[in-house]
Amino acid sequence: METEPHPFEATIAAIRAQVPADLAAPRIGIVCGSGLSTLASHFRDKVEVAYDSLPGFVKSTVAGHKSAFAFGRLGEGQGIPVVAMLGRFHPYEGYPMAKATYPIRVMKRLGVQSLLITNATGSLNPAIPVGTIVIIQDHLSLPSLTGMNPLLGPNYPPYPRFLPMSNAYSRRLRKLVFHGFYKLQSKLNMSSANANGKIDEQAIQEGTYAYVSGPTYETPAEGRFLRAAGADVVGMSTIPEVIVAREEDMEVCVLSLVTNFVVIPAGYRSIREEVEAELAGKPLEAVQDAIVSHEEVLEVGQRKAELMRELIEIVVPTI
Ligand code: 6GU
Repeated sequence: METEPHPFEATIAAIRAQVPADLAAPRIGIVCGSGLSTLASHFRDKVEVAYDSLPGFVKSTVAGHKSAFAFGRLGEGQGIPVVAMLGRFHPYEGYPMAKATYPIRVMKRLGVQSLLITNATGSLNPAIPVGTIVIIQDHLSLPSLTGMNPLLGPNYPPYPRFLPMSNAYSRRLRKLVFHGFYKLQSKLNMSSANANGKIDEQAIQEGTYAYVSGPTYETPAEGRFLRAAGADVVGMSTIPEVIVAREEDMEVCVLSLVTNFVVIPAGYRSIREEVEAELAGKPLEAVQDAIVSHEEVLEVGQRKAELMRELIEIVVPTI
């Protein structure tokens, strides 16, 4: 491993200097997406390690993202040691993919074998409404198909040169998440006092994630293109992490929270039609182009984060 271009030893030493030994070797890692850092709010014995205290790390710059690892325990009794990334790095912030995915490789070296990755996404599928948690079963990564892949560059054996992606999303973990969901559902539906209210079957679905580099949201034509290509949701994160986690031979599960619909207008009213109606003295009703806002994404994230947190807390002990 000495030939690898990463300062692993220095990073791991800096973490071990800040975290008690019984918390510093978790088997389970969680990546918290936009507005989802509250996933770590119930960690017991929590210790945060700021990214800017760690060699090899860059600073996360997106609103709604913290910039730290959180170490702690989840679940009954002694609890299970876990590590969460509060905030992640995105290639759209200007970081090379190798830098953006470095924390994933660090988690592996701390002992993480199973990785739960969360994110906020836009829905392309009318059957997947805002607020749905989508268990990702496959992805469509335009950047990695066209020359932006975190594994571009020299190969360092024992990593494989050509990594398969057909089995990237662990069936075992996806199944545990669904089992967890049904457990949570019967628990919540029995206690009407719960702030989350009742949850229905539609609250969790399976789907395909389209990865785009961002930072621009999709145009209507791009949204239709991704939908036609078979994607259910779209986002600007996660896939570089999935690819690196698979190279590191970790078991991966992705939970996407739908925060908004991608703007795909049902029909386009031509400007010619509008102008001709005006010339005829019968102006048509005004149409407004819809837009997505990051504030909307964060707001839904906050409301639904509690459900996501409860789900993760039920699933972690079963991993
Ligand atoms: Cl609409 N698009 C992309 N690319 N990422 C998103 C999103 C939309 N909504 C949340 N994340």
